[in-house]
Amino acid sequence: MTTKHASVREFVVEQIELHLGAHDRLPTERELSDRLGVSRLTVRRAIQELEGEGLVYRIQGSGTYVAEPRIRKGTELTSFSADMRARGLTPGARLLTAETVIAGADQSWRLSVSPGTELHHISRLRLANSQPMCLEDVWLVAAHTPELLSHNLEGSLYDLLTQKYRIVVDRAEQETRATVLDTDEAALLGVPPYSAALQVERVTSDVRGRPIEYARSRYRGDRYSSITTLTRQT
Ligand code: GLP
Repeated sequence: MTTKHASVREFVVEQIELHLGAHDRLPTERELSDRLGVSRLTVRRAIQELEGEGLVYRIQGSGTYVAEPRIRKGTELTSFSADMRARGLTPGARLLTAETVIAGADQSWRLSVSPGTELHHISRLRLANSQPMCLEDVWLVAAHTPELLSHNLEGSLYDLLTQKYRIVVDRAEQETRATVLDTDEAALLGVPPYSAALQVERVTSDVRGRPIEYARSRYRGDRYSSITTLTRQT
């Protein structure tokens, strides 16, 4: 690959990651060649390559557009960070809330503790390549994770649980359903108000069978899909 070719690729990928959404039109071949000071042939070759990789698609006589990136999810118990890394994306988190609260009826039922038990509530905007992907609220039994809120909560929560508390997540009950985002949620996720989203609720237990977290994640409907492998029982 020539340096010129690589610089076109790099420029277009950066545009897609930072400035363009799915189905937005890329600059034309002429604009790219003028802007980057390379021949149109070099631009064409780089775009063809990106098309082959599924990052962009072309409509004859109209232009080249950003393809829909979909993150697929299987049934393995994984963290958000591992999910994103497996797809070649860099995971991240922006901390929105970290507080200790008293369990209400719903949370205590899910976590098998008495109402009134202290829980840590962590709310984060989850990022993939610095782009908002999901809003995640997690409640953990405070007694299992003392001082949790004093740690850096912008990395992987599951890694933190293992490294600081020797808690190894082992099993989860998960429910997925369609929902819409309210105005605040949509603004945080960078989509129009009332956009469709996938809500994933998870109660995760550790290897000792203790319910550790109740999590509610709201994924952008335009960027996330769920896939399950089914095998026939004989
Ligand atoms: C997923 C799960 C959450 C879990 C999170 C941990 O998003 N739905 O229940 O808390 O992963 O991810 P990480 O370790 O990257 O913080």
